[in-house]
Amino acid sequence: MAASDQLTIRRPDDWHVHLRDGDMLRLVAPYTARQFARAIIMPNLAPPVTTAEAAGAYRRRILDALPEGASFLPLMTCYLTDETDAQALEEGFLDGVFTAAKLYPAGATTNSAAGVTDINKLDPVFERMAKIGMPLLLHGEVTDPEVDVFDREAVFIERVLEPLLARVPGLKAVLEHITTGDAVDYVNAKAGSLGATITAHHLIINRNALFEGGMRPHNYCLPVAKRETHRLALRGAAISGAPWFFLGTDSAPHPIADKECDCGCAGIFTAPAALELYAQVFDEEGALDNLEGFASVFGAEFYGLPLNEGTVTLARGSAPDAGDGGVQPFHVGRDLNWRILDNPEERR
Ligand code: NCD
Ligand code: ZN
Repeated sequence: MAASDQLTIRRPDDWHVHLRDGDMLRLVAPYTARQFARAIIMPNLAPPVTTAEAAGAYRRRILDALPEGASFLPLMTCYLTDETDAQALEEGFLDGVFTAAKLYPAGATTNSAAGVTDINKLDPVFERMAKIGMPLLLHGEVTDPEVDVFDREAVFIERVLEPLLARVPGLKAVLEHITTGDAVDYVNAKAGSLGATITAHHLIINRNALFEGGMRPHNYCLPVAKRETHRLALRGAAISGAPWFFLGTDSAPHPIADKECDCGCAGIFTAPAALELYAQVFDEEGALDNLEGFASVFGAEFYGLPLNEGTVTLARGSAPDAGDGGVQPFHVGRDLNWRILDNPEERR
């Protein structure tokens, strides 16, 4: 195989992933650990991870779920509620338990019922986070039922995010899993004070994928995929080399029975082939040279963490179908033309 049929990059990180708990954790954690050196672990368990003690215990359960010899560092987050105490949050951060805090507007998505009902009331917490340099991760959708579901991200930027960033200067915020050209423009305009993660699936599908020949629950996630112009804007952002856009899969597994039912859960499970999916997108855009920055450099720099040692090699060639145990991975049924090489002897 010619060298150009292989791509070796610094080991990447996933800046937004759901690993769940219990049996699901044991099923999905090995996929993420195979692909990524570190990941920002979402705290929306039931009950949510709201204390450093709970985060420490969850981190141990994650490490216990990894295969022998895996090298993977879970970076824990605190689930913000109306009751979050700035002092306790700061202590969890300074003790190295929390890497960031996650804001879910109450009712916005899976397990967000305990989220924040009035974001203005949390200003003392945000001010403390700005002071200590603790990143605030935002699920950027309003929950107002009057707002069209496809407009909820754009309206969040206008009604919530812009006023928040104006009220709390110096806050290090990440707009998670962006889905619109509006978000791309807004984050670009902030030129570095605001980061954004982009999922693989939002680079690949638009909202038509939800209704292709019938209802497609496995393409349903929140924020929901938008129209094609937005997908193209996201692609442009991801490959642009702008360091405020970085990889976050938002891999969010749910049992098939909870997806294929009367009121199916939001979440797309990409962990088994996440890096392959991103590689495919960058390849299609003729931008493979920019994959390493997006996947392995910009996120760490934004968080102020060291870059990973070591590399991962991708090779052209179809990736194996992985993922079972009652969860449907996004890549199944799609042609993947990159795969991760596990065997160093295949590298050249
Ligand atoms: C996530 C989940 O299932 O936990 N679902 C999703 O559609 N992305 C929650 C979230 O990140 O919104
Ligand atoms: Zn998520």
